[in-house]
Amino acid sequence: MNSAFLNALSDQVLALLRAQPSRWFTLAELSTRLGCLKSDILFAVNISRQAGYGVESDRQGRYRFISAPDLLLTSEILHGLKTKVIGRTVYAYQSVQSTNLIGSQLADANAPHGSIVVAESQTKGRGRLGRLWHSPEGKGIYFSIILYPDLDPASAPGLSIMTAVSVAETIALYVSKKVTIKWPNDCLLNGRKVAGILTELSADVGKTRHVVVGVGINVNHTRRDFPAEITKTATSLKAEMKKDFPRVKLLQQLLFQFEKDYLRFQKGGLAVLRERILKYSHVIGKQVRLDMSGERIAGKALDIDDHGNLVLKTADGIRRFNAGEVTVVK
Ligand code: BTN
Repeated sequence: MNSAFLNALSDQVLALLRAQPSRWFTLAELSTRLGCLKSDILFAVNISRQAGYGVESDRQGRYRFISAPDLLLTSEILHGLKTKVIGRTVYAYQSVQSTNLIGSQLADANAPHGSIVVAESQTKGRGRLGRLWHSPEGKGIYFSIILYPDLDPASAPGLSIMTAVSVAETIALYVSKKVTIKWPNDCLLNGRKVAGILTELSADVGKTRHVVVGVGINVNHTRRDFPAEITKTATSLKAEMKKDFPRVKLLQQLLFQFEKDYLRFQKGGLAVLRERILKYSHVIGKQVRLDMSGERIAGKALDIDDHGNLVLKTADGIRRFNAGEVTVVK
């Protein structure tokens, strides 16, 4: 039997059952409504069960929908997604080296604007400054958004800051502890890193070809899931709140928030997000140390300007920085 046919059929059976969750459906009704053999329906139900869906059957051979798995499957992400463009095409994988890497390959092949690449695990998840993003299976949300923005390449860091605001705002909906953004785009929960953003750009002189915005969120990691070197600085929603969180819902909410913020950002740049950038900032008003390409600068963080620069009051006067690693010292 053709497995593509059965996979598509299992999606259709699920959609039918799911539309009326408490109702029982007979095999005859399912096969008539979907125009296939009863034996095909049985195969399709098995495929769904193997993928983690709860489909109950009774003695009379009827079926009903019970539960969906919290897996980052295309069908789950699309079910109930409220966006118009972002996440409307999903490339979902069990394991990849890096969703950003796949994202840029797909962008080179003209994947639709707003497509997302998502994976249950990454073997070489890319972090900022050449670091690795630890991506254990089934614990976090690791995904990349493919965009073809009409954007001056110099404004790409602004897109990362915008994304950090969307991520922080989304996480804040789920937790009671404080969510902040450590400039430029580390999301912290209760002072520890819970999410990171890596924006990678492909450009010709002065013109952006595509941007891949990669987001990693530590969701259901326990403290033991983190490598020793980051246990003190990293956290997850679960580690802070002592319960599991629904990854699919979180991702859908984030895509919805991202879409709204991206439209605003395109119209008005970072200026339109200013209030929220300041609201979530972990550094403004604090004494910080900034490490950038071997140089270390101390100062008081005064502002994040509309170009996304960190404004520091230093011993040499007021200076603006467009990159670096910040540590709060007081
Ligand atoms: C950081 O260092 O803070 C940025 C981390 C970004 C990690 C995400 S996980 C999904 C996407 N794919 C990658 O390879 N990296 C980003």
